[in-house]
Amino acid sequence: MLQTSLPDDEHKFPYGGLPKKNFIFAKTMETHFFITGTSRGIGRALAERLVRNPFHHVVGIARHPAFQHSRYTHITADLTEVDKLPELAEKLFTEKPIAKKLVLINNAGTLSEIGYVGEIAETRMIASFRVNMIAPALLCSLFIRKYRHLQIPKTIINVSSGAGKNPYDGWATYCASKAGLDMFSRCVQIEQDIRDLGFRIFSVAPGVVDTQMQQDIRQANTEGFSRIERFRLLKENRELSTPEEVAEKFIHLLDNEEQYPEVILDLRGI
Ligand SMILES: NC(=O)c1ccc[n+]([C@@H]2O[C@H](COP(=O)([O-])OP(=O)(O)OC[C@H]3O[C@@H](n4cnc5c(N)ncnc54)[C@H](OP(=O)(O)O)[C@@H]3O)[C@@H](O)[C@H]2O)c1
Repeated sequence: MLQTSLPDDEHKFPYGGLPKKNFIFAKTMETHFFITGTSRGIGRALAERLVRNPFHHVVGIARHPAFQHSRYTHITADLTEVDKLPELAEKLFTEKPIAKKLVLINNAGTLSEIGYVGEIAETRMIASFRVNMIAPALLCSLFIRKYRHLQIPKTIINVSSGAGKNPYDGWATYCASKAGLDMFSRCVQIEQDIRDLGFRIFSVAPGVVDTQMQQDIRQANTEGFSRIERFRLLKENRELSTPEEVAEKFIHLLDNEEQYPEVILDLRGI
């Protein structure tokens, strides 16, 4: 994929130059973001949007390159290689002396092979569980281990899916891994409420978003996914959100965390 350069936009205060309360506390806070899956789709839109704020620094991870910007650093890594994650974390979760807030967004995800269990390759099932469930869980753990002693707010967003709540034929490993991510996030939030070390954890479904993932769904073999027509119609009827709209909602959530006490969220309700 081609690397593109973004303008080093200056962040402009809205509301006629008078910042409102949340704006002061969230948007002008030196914040460092770690985001997986920034080469395209939701992760890329989010990273591109975040670096427009001069107080934001983003480290992105994907197998392919993303974009160039003075406040964006890219790390090339394959999240199926879960045994290498502690090594990756050494490069990723470095000391952040000037940061006033740290945010991990486990966004990378894959439907891997769409099709029925017993008919799809077991190796693809392994890859799906690794990227969608094991890698985010390990990155959460490594993030908490590294930054637990920092007395600043630390937020983890695991990008989940409605498919973690509702079963779909052809998506068994994807649904199961997103359901696992939801429950993992709920457990970790309970632990962190007990430890009181300043971590918030969210597991957030973004809605149906116009990305490569949706394109792959629409092109699936109809024998391996009975609900394909619904997804084709969503596209035809222009009912998909854009990655940019979804990025704005994630930013709204991050700027207003105190308004969202739940761990499990759906961006369609935000
Ligand atoms: N789009 C939707 O309608 C929708 C709905 C519900 C939930 N979601 C969730 O939203 C998140 C983003 O989805 P999207 O729609 O933006 O998907 P996408 O366009 O397919 O992008 C997926 C991102 O994940 C990265 N990724 C995939 N496999 C990886 C691997 N093995 N190692 C490292 N990075 C990997 C990809 O980077 P590389 O290929 O460069 O590695 C890419 O940057 C996912 O967790 C997905 O499950 C999406």
